[in-house]
Amino acid sequence: MRKPFIAGNWKMYKTAEQAKAFAEEFRKLYKPSDVRVAIAAPFTQLWALKEAFAGSGIAVAAQNMHWADEGAYTGEVSAAMLREIGVDYCVIGHSERRQYFAETDETVNKKVLKALEAGILPILCCGESLQTRDAGEQNAFVEAQIRADFAGVSPEDAKKVTVAYEPIWAIGTGRTASPQQAQDMCAYIREVLADIYGEDISEEITIQYGGSVKPANASELMDQPDIDGALVGGASLKPADFIEIVHF
Ligand code: PGA
Repeated sequence: MRKPFIAGNWKMYKTAEQAKAFAEEFRKLYKPSDVRVAIAAPFTQLWALKEAFAGSGIAVAAQNMHWADEGAYTGEVSAAMLREIGVDYCVIGHSERRQYFAETDETVNKKVLKALEAGILPILCCGESLQTRDAGEQNAFVEAQIRADFAGVSPEDAKKVTVAYEPIWAIGTGRTASPQQAQDMCAYIREVLADIYGEDISEEITIQYGGSVKPANASELMDQPDIDGALVGGASLKPADFIEIVHF
């Protein structure tokens, strides 16, 4: 059975002091349950968060990593460096990285493979633009991303990947996909994964929805059969909001 998985994505928000204050407040509100919880924070906050969440069961995620083991890549951080400080997950291929930092399915795929090799669990983001949806091409677009991003990932490793479906038009816009739109795409992603890996494995892969998830719409989204979790941006910045989503 797939466990619900709620992850916060802080993007480029919060200093280490602010991260520690968040963790302290969030731990007071948090009731451990079957729901997996993680916070994806900027690199410089990962260590502090790891310490602040110690013993709580709340996991820590990076928002990016490089695919090489090491090398002359100024400004980059490797999977092994993240693993060394106990980082559990890494968001890979977020649309903001694809849009502003020229990430392609090829680099996303290399990162997914390296994360798995290093023992970091990928949260692999996919999702179409408004233009693609308006043209009715969203399924073909997301299918191509999934096939390219999972290239060379073994069936056993595929189960460790969380797919986050984030339609770009719903990110930070307040315009959430309807539960039906989100469900339809998450079900389609599972079909594509079943085609690649077989139904048994596709049934084990966690698929999140992301894009303007808020306390007010989380439970309706989580009620959908193929939506196993949420990747939450803006609403993960305040403990009181994020806890409501975690306790959906
Ligand atoms: P949002 O961001 O919840 O602020 O729309 C989601 C994301 O980018 O992961």
